[in-house]
Amino acid sequence: MAPLTGILSDLNRVLLTADQIHDRVSAMAAQIGSDYAGKVLTVVVLMDGALFFVSDLLRQIDLPIRLVTLGASSYHGGLESSGQVQIQWPAGVRFAGEDVLLLDDILDTGLTLSALRERLLAESPASLRTAVLLDKKRPRNHDCPLDYCGFEIADEFVVGYGMDYQGRFRNLPCIGILKP
Ligand code: IMP
Ligand code: MG
Repeated sequence: MAPLTGILSDLNRVLLTADQIHDRVSAMAAQIGSDYAGKVLTVVVLMDGALFFVSDLLRQIDLPIRLVTLGASSYHGGLESSGQVQIQWPAGVRFAGEDVLLLDDILDTGLTLSALRERLLAESPASLRTAVLLDKKRPRNHDCPLDYCGFEIADEFVVGYGMDYQGRFRNLPCIGILKP
């Protein structure tokens, strides 16, 4: 792929290169594939942030996966969480008796994933696990157990590989910190 030198120049620094992300996502896929061997896995993914993560991850898992995309937002495009989660739940979608893996790009305050976990548990799945690419190391009010985590990062606002600032920079192949 040609390097995106234009948007790269908007970064203060690169935190994780495309190669580092690729290697780690492959390792996560191998782990998840072996943990769910013989099962029909349902992956519930939060859009849009986890778009590239879910795409790269699931194409390396050798299982007949059912994929359900959900929208949930607490940020409304800024740098800080608004404190309330809005979940767009498609009509008629049910998870009773299924092995569900909830996937998101990043665990920050934990508000989004803890709300989603509660909503999914109410569906009586056979099992529910959670996977994120990034886990921000910060104090959390909302407890959210993680079963799979790509990288632990410091408490900084990141963009790229699906993650945005005001709707932009999702297409950056690496993950980085924006210039102030
Ligand atoms: P939480 O509810 O505070 O854990 O926030 C989770 C959601 O906020 C994630 O799904 C992301 O979409 C977004 N988010 C949190 N931190 C960042 C960041 O550093 N960059 C971009 N989006 C973020
Ligand atoms: Mg998100």
